[in-house]
This record gives sequence, C-alpha cells and structure tokens, in this order.
Amino acid sequence: MTHKLMILPGDGIGPEVMAEIRKVLGWLESDAGIAFDIEEGLIGGASIDAHNDPLTNDTLEQCRKADAILLGAVGGPKWADVEYNIRPEAGLLKLRKELDLFANLRPALVFDALVDASSLKPDIVKGLDILIVRELTGGVYFGEPRGIEDIGNGQRRGFNTQTYTTSEIQRVGRVAFDLARKRSNKVTSCEKANVMESGKLWREEITALHGSEFNDIELEHMYADNCAMQLLRSPSQFDVIVTDNLFGDILSDEAAMLTGSLGMLPSASLGNPGSPGLYEPVHGSAPDIAGQGKANPLATILSLAMALRYSLNEGQTADQLEQAVQVVLNAGTRTPDIMAPNCIEVSTAAMGDALISQLQKSKAEAA
Ligand code: IPM
Ligand code: MG
Repeated sequence: MTHKLMILPGDGIGPEVMAEIRKVLGWLESDAGIAFDIEEGLIGGASIDAHNDPLTNDTLEQCRKADAILLGAVGGPKWADVEYNIRPEAGLLKLRKELDLFANLRPALVFDALVDASSLKPDIVKGLDILIVRELTGGVYFGEPRGIEDIGNGQRRGFNTQTYTTSEIQRVGRVAFDLARKRSNKVTSCEKANVMESGKLWREEITALHGSEFNDIELEHMYADNCAMQLLRSPSQFDVIVTDNLFGDILSDEAAMLTGSLGMLPSASLGNPGSPGLYEPVHGSAPDIAGQGKANPLATILSLAMALRYSLNEGQTADQLEQAVQVVLNAGTRTPDIMAPNCIEVSTAAMGDALISQLQKSKAEAA
C-alpha cells in the first residue's frame, strides 16, 4: 500500500525543516519498506510570490486527495504589506477550513533529556505529558460579521464575532474525551463562561456530552485565564485540555514553552474520518533564523510521527521515530534552541543525519 503525501514547505525555516523530513521519508522507503507517493506544493508567502494567492485551488485539490499533508510554516516580514485577505496566514486558514480540520492536537511532552531547557524548575515539568485539543475551524477566527468600518469623526471600528454551535462543540469534545480514554482519563475544558455566551454554551454542551457518552472520564471546567495561570503553577494537573480556537492558540504556545522549545512541538489537525490530516510543527516560520541551518527539525519530524500514527496506520513506525528522537537527545545532540552545557551543538541538517543514523542503528540491533 502506497501512502499519498502532500508536502507544503511554505516560508522561512519551513523548507529547511522539510528537507530533513524528505531524508526521513527516504529512509522509511529504503529501509523500512514503506511506500510513499509524494507531491509538493506552495503555500503562504511562497505561493503569493508565484500566484498572488496564499493557497491556490489546484494545490487545495491536491491536498484533498492526499492521505496526509505535511506543512512547514507560513509567513514572514516580506509579506507584511500584502492585502489582508491574501496574507500568508490566510492560506493556512483556508486549508484548515476547506478540509474541515476541526480538531487540532498539540501535545506538550517534556523529554527527560530536555528537562533543564524549560523555563520552569525541573521538578515542576519532569515527565510532563499534556495534550491540548484546540477547536480549529470555528470561533472568532472565522465568525461573521467581521471587518473594519468607518464610524465617522475620524473613528474606525474593528470587529470580529465569536460563535460556536452545539455540533461544533460536540465534535471537538468527542475527540478530546476519546483521546483522554487512551491517556489518563481526564479532560479540562476551558472557556470564559463568566464573560461570554459562547463560553456558557461551550460549558453546557461539554457537560451534556460528558453525561451522555463519557461519564467514565473525569471532567473539569476552567476559565481560560485560570488555565493559563495553572499551566505555569502546576502543569502536571492536566491530561487533555479542550478549548476553542483562540484560547487554544494562546494556551498551546504557553504549554509549548513548558517543554523548553517551540522547536520540539508537533501538531496534528484532524477532520472527519476519511479526510486527510494536516501535520505541522507548532513553531512559525522564524524568519530571523531562516536559511542559517539553525532551525530544529524535530518538531516537524515528530509531526511526521503523528501523521504515521493518525493518518497512515503506521503506529509502530511512529513509535520508532519518537524513540529515535529520544535517543538522539539523550546523546546530547542539540540544535541551538535546545543547546545545554556539555552537549554538542549541531545544524538542522546534522540533526536530521543524527536521526537517520539512530534509525539505522536500531534497525541493525533489531535484526
Ligand atoms: C498557529 C498559528 C496560526 C494560528 C497562524 C499562523 C494563523 O499561530 O497555528 O498556532 O493562529 O492558528
Ligand atoms: Mg499559534
């Protein structure tokens, strides 16, 4: 069986980290007997430069036909002045919306070897393993009406709409509860029910869903601001956090930093059964370090592991990839973002090479 992959390197460090993914895919083909049919396309600024459009319909259609989509990153100062509706980020939002990728899984996992890279004390983050499930196709990101309007007297008014329906809340809630069942059986649902009607509805619908389908799981409700605070105070109280699009955007960046570096965090965006998943690192395009070989490719490599697990039914290979990442980190191999005393600083490409050698070594040991 051949897996159809669509690769969208995007902007900034996207192409560099994606080059390392190509190496890993090459190894999986030559040494693990997994067949891929790979196509590559443009997204974000790269697509604006070529087509004056951050995601063309042709590329979108190619994505629709794939089993999984691997994305690098979008955006950068070069496109700061393009028209708002064709900015680089609009390409990513269109992809998420068009493919109905409503559940964004963002694990924050602290690897033992990186416990000192966290800005929190080691005893607070050691062994940390939380999963943020962010609603990705609704809320204020997509709500109408939206805009900037003139209201006279030299004044303007900017506005967006936060909206959620019962079914939008239920479907992402279901994903969170299902995942909690495979983990530590706890879901924390975050909103601002004390301020927003959409948050009140969110709380009521999650409570109802819990009562009807998931009462074996522990459910806790938390205001999003309190959650931001608790993530710093005692992050290990959490297992799965489910929240809306905007709060999820913010809380997942915060959770990412608990692990030491944004350069380590993968994500998966999942839709309805049968539609392709989108896999991307949580970090952005990092234009300040683009092209210098400083980027950490591990977030993208771990995103590939999630693709193998959630879209390609290659869970065992996903485990192998994640184990190889751990061994490489334990050996002290570090890109600059996670560099520590007595470790060896390597480039993006050398990190990819170290991973391939480790995969090779494990294969030889298993034989
Ligand atoms: C993310 C990013 C995106 C978002 C941007 C690039 C549009 O911050 O995936 O978290 O806000 O969703
Ligand atoms: Mg973000």
